[in-house]
Amino acid sequence: MSFINVASVDEIEPGTGKEVSVEGTDIVVLRSDEGDFHAMAKECPHAGVSMVDGIIEDGCVECVAHGAQFDLETGQPLSPAYDPLKIYPVQIVDGFIAVDLKA
Ligand code: FES
Repeated sequence: MSFINVASVDEIEPGTGKEVSVEGTDIVVLRSDEGDFHAMAKECPHAGVSMVDGIIEDGCVECVAHGAQFDLETGQPLSPAYDPLKIYPVQIVDGFIAVDLKA
């Protein structure tokens, strides 16, 4: 595992997200209303819209463009027409959000 700091915890308010480019990989970090962080590929596998406005609810993330939902642990689509969304492990260390892009 190789976690890389991508943002400080204070940069992302609950219920919002941030696009980050890390070593040439574009990702999105979302913070749920409850305050937990989730990292994923920036582009939704359905039609490439950014997941930055994604809605986190009941263990899944929903793309706001057309409503595709993905499991937050596995990235598997909950609607069968879509490919999986890449999900990255997240750690919080000393106030920073660290993401493992190699996972
Ligand atoms: S682009 Fe995400 S559901 Fe269509």
